[in-house]
Amino acid sequence: MAKIINLVLMLSLLLVVASEGQFLANGILKPPATLKCESAYGVKTGDTCFEIAQAFNLPTELFDSINPNLNCTALFVGQWVCLNGTLS
Ligand SMILES: *[C@@H]1O[C@H](CO)[C@@H](O)[C@H](O)[C@H]1NC(C)=O
Ligand SMILES: *[C@@H]1O[C@H](CO)[C@@H](O)[C@H](O)[C@H]1NC(C)=O
Repeated sequence: MAKIINLVLMLSLLLVVASEGQFLANGILKPPATLKCESAYGVKTGDTCFEIAQAFNLPTELFDSINPNLNCTALFVGQWVCLNGTLS
């Protein structure tokens, strides 16, 4: 009996972890940590971090600070890039 309860607890923990960093229904990125992303952009074919930052007038430092986990070497189409957010 105790084993079954443990299994249920573990499964619900896994579910909580799996839902971290997912997208909300409205397409706005739900940030994993303390970063609050106000708006996001879906990467299109041929986009680079530099071009996206320039297109939205974002200084590189700001762009990096609101996209801490973004790997610009491995940017992919459909990936969400944060354009404006607040760190708290
Ligand atoms: C970013 O992606 C490139 C290409 O897949 C990879 O070689 C590199 O290790 C990645 N960097 C980080 C910090 O994950
Ligand atoms: C970023 O979001 C904040 C809070 O919603 C807003 O006040 C600010 O005008 C936005 N900045 C830009 C550049 O969109």
